[in-house]
Amino acid sequence: MTPTPEEKKRRVAAAALEFIVDDSVVGIGTGSTVNAFIDQLGPWANRIRGAVSSSTASTRRLEALGIRVFDLNDVDDLGIYIDGADEANPRLELIKGGGAALTREKIVAQSAARFVCIVDESKRVPVLGRFPLPVEVVPMAQRAVARRLAALTGGQVTLRDGVVTDNGNVILDVRGLSITAPRELECELNQVPGVVTVGLFAARPADVLLVGTDDGVLRVDRPLA
Ligand code: 5RP
Repeated sequence: MTPTPEEKKRRVAAAALEFIVDDSVVGIGTGSTVNAFIDQLGPWANRIRGAVSSSTASTRRLEALGIRVFDLNDVDDLGIYIDGADEANPRLELIKGGGAALTREKIVAQSAARFVCIVDESKRVPVLGRFPLPVEVVPMAQRAVARRLAALTGGQVTLRDGVVTDNGNVILDVRGLSITAPRELECELNQVPGVVTVGLFAARPADVLLVGTDDGVLRVDRPLA
């Protein structure tokens, strides 16, 4: 029988449990796939020291299981970061931020020795950009940044209605892109004053992609440069 989308998420999340090391602190992302991961962390609550979380939503879910959530400033050795993505290309460069948690996600991903990304097969694309690119922006710069992003990318820029991030900022979504040079675009958009974080994870891509498919979980390792 074909597994439901929820069952595929549960399975791919279960596969990520194998990357956890006893007595370590685990970096945890945000989203429905990560929720499926957190929901299976219960038996690990006494085996790990705790977690660093990328959002208030994930923090609440972790704490409900009795898992200690550390401030990143108090952790020197973050071995692993586990998170979902909105898109992944064959180089394991990602679009993230569908859940508006991209800034903290990027900070925790950058701090971890290894980034394991958990997705279903619909998230794998040859070229990033089908999913609107999220950009977190300081509110006072919203319109200026929107104009600049449209000019730089040629995409259609819209404000994500009613969303305020955990950092008190807004999200602009850029549609209609075909991102053939993600690292360069990430670097360029990072320079726009008012941009807090670009939802491209190319300077720090995933190291391992676990993909939930109808037939099980596929593991893809990042190709060497
Ligand atoms: C949140 C994210 C999520 O990882 C991304 O949106 C994927 O979410 P889901 O697992 O619900 O599909 O980047 O900011």
